[in-house]
Parts: sequence; structure tokens; C-alpha cells
Amino acid sequence: MKKTSTPVLPARTAPGDGPLLAVDDLHVEFATRQGVVKAVNGVSYSLNPGETLAVLGESGSGKSVTAQAIMGILDMPPARIPRGEIRFRGTDLLRLPEDQRAQVRGQRISMIFQDALSALNPVFTVGWQISEMFRVHRGMSRRDATKKAIELMDRVRIPAARQRVNDYPHQFSGGMRQRIMIAMAIALDPEVLIADEPTTALDVTVQAQIMELLAELQRESNMGLILITHDLGVVADVADKIAVMYGGRIVENALVHDIYRSPAHPYTKGLLDSIPRVDLKGQELYAIKGMPPNLLDMPQGCAFHPRCPYRQDNCVTDAPPLYEIGPTRGSACHYWREVFDDSRR
Ligand SMILES: Nc1ncnc2c1ncn2[C@@H]1O[C@H](COP(=O)(O)OP(=O)(O)OP(=O)(O)O)[C@@H](O)[C@H]1O
Ligand SMILES: [Mg+2]
Repeated sequence: MKKTSTPVLPARTAPGDGPLLAVDDLHVEFATRQGVVKAVNGVSYSLNPGETLAVLGESGSGKSVTAQAIMGILDMPPARIPRGEIRFRGTDLLRLPEDQRAQVRGQRISMIFQDALSALNPVFTVGWQISEMFRVHRGMSRRDATKKAIELMDRVRIPAARQRVNDYPHQFSGGMRQRIMIAMAIALDPEVLIADEPTTALDVTVQAQIMELLAELQRESNMGLILITHDLGVVADVADKIAVMYGGRIVENALVHDIYRSPAHPYTKGLLDSIPRVDLKGQELYAIKGMPPNLLDMPQGCAFHPRCPYRQDNCVTDAPPLYEIGPTRGSACHYWREVFDDSRR
């Protein structure tokens, strides 16, 4: 009889030759009263230690749902993962027994949430909330855990950490609260950090400081960073590579400097064409004409075809694969060459 082995989580120090994290052909759908919402439709991306991957795309394109699948925090049901793999150091997290999965969550892969500012508990001091990570996961005494909390508050540059450790969340500004969320996310030295729109609620100066902090923490610890964002300026400054999502798929992936110079997908080109080239900073993504696809009833063929200026007849019927157009680039457009040539003019 064939023995199916239970996957085992590799150690932090495992040498491993593949990427740190690899999402492969991931599909996520939700059963709703209206029907099945196909939120993620074959997403693949990978991340190496010390690398920053920016995930970009308009609202509803599946950025957060992909992140929630990686974290293993989707409610199933209504969510279902009919296909795909999420390999962490070579082990498929989707096949990992729940007790081992729990050891990954928050400890080896951790996340700063899109609504971080409301994620802090108003009735506990920030010191208590940070130190809880060490009490629960590391079995530390209250005293030692508080010491670690102060160290972390220092590390995320909260002034006068020792004096402020017993303050409550409402006594901190939005930017400081976000730093506290970051402190909690990095408390246990994660190998992968997912930051889901970590700066949307903050003003521009504070946004820049938070991004700088994340970049610095990443350099110190060599963790892989997945940065979900709408802000093209942020992407240009901090990311190594980029994955552009549309309708629950990656439509283009590339190294950051390649994509800015010459996008190879009409959607990416639309995003870049619509912003002033001289100053990318702080610009929100422009809404391209037309509506995002209906995830309850995805169009046949390419999901972008109803909005695409490059559309040909076969785009309506044949869904393009992610064409490999270079060693580090892919575009899910049958006519990527035309788009690419146009964008280089
Ligand atoms: N629990 C759920 N039940 C049903 N549909 C859901 C659920 N969670 C997410 N979705 C749908 O999945 C799609 C993708 O959502 P997701 O949150 O990943 O978008 P996003 O790209 O992160 O957008 P935003 O930029 O607005 O955060 C959306 O259409 C959303 O409505
Ligand atoms: Mg989101």
C-alpha cells in the first residue's frame, strides 16, 4: 500500500534551495447567497529572504484574500481552496496539520492587517498587548515579557518606550499605533511579513516613516516582505519586484525597474500612463475606464478584455496564460509584444 507521508515543517535554519515562500496556482472561492465568488483564480508568486514583493491592483482584485490564504485565516466555509499550493520552505502549508500550521501563523509568517488601527484592543495597555506574544508563544514571565515589549517599542522607534509601555492605544497617534502593530507582527522574528496596506490610514509624512521603518527592520532580519499597496510611489521606493493583480489573477510580474520603464500588460500600462511621470509619489491608482470583473460571473477569455484597448477577437474567448516574456517577467496578455513596444516609444 502506498504510504502518504504527513508533511513536516522545516526548521528556520533549513538550508532549502527553493524560495522562502511560493504561492502556486492558488484558487480561493467563497460560497455566498448570490453564488460562488471566485476571488482568487490561479495566483502564483514567490518570495526569497530579504526580498520585497509589492502586490498591486485595484480594490477587489484578490490581494488580501491571497494573503489570508497564506496566513491560514480564511473561514472555511464559506471559503474554499479548490486548487493550489502555498509552499513555505518547500512544505505545502495547505497540507500541514492544523497544530503545525498554528506554529507558522504569527510566528514564522506574520501579517500587519489592512485595518490595523482598529486591531488593537482598547482596554489593554500596549505593553500588555505586545508582551502577550512572548507570554503565550515563548512562555516568558510577565516581567521578562514586559522587558521584551519595551525593547520592541524602542526598535520600532516609539519615543520614551519605558515610560509609555503602560499607556493605552488611544493615548498614541495613528502612526505610533501602527508602529505598535508592527512591533507585534515582528515580535517573534517572522521569516515572512505580509503588510496589507500598512499606511493607507496615515498622512503622507507618517506613511514614509512607516515604510522606512519596515525597510530597515527587513534589512536587519533578512525577512521576506510582501507589501500590498495601492501606492505606486511606495512600490518604486522599496520593492524589488512586483505582481499586478486583476480579477484574482496575476496579470503581470516583473522586477520593479523593468515594469516602470516598459509595462507589458494593458492593465499595468493603464495604471502607469494615468499618473504624472515626474512625481509618482503618493499617487493613488487611477481608475481605468469600465468596471472591474464580476467575480460571480467571470467573463470568458481574458478578464480584462471588456476594458482593454488592445483587445482582439481571441481575447474574448481564450484566457491568456501568464506568458514568460523574460527570465524575471511574465504577462498574461496575448498581445504583450504590442503593449511592450508601445510603452517603450
Ligand atoms: N468572506 C467573503 N465572502 C465573500 N466574498 C469575499 C469574502 N472575502 C472577500 N471576498 C471577495 O473577494 C474579492 C477579493 O477581495 P480582497 O479583499 O482580496 O480584495 P483586495 O484586492 O484586497 O481589495 P482592497 O484593495 O479593497 O483591499 C472581493 O470581491 C471580495 O468582495
Ligand atoms: Mg485588501
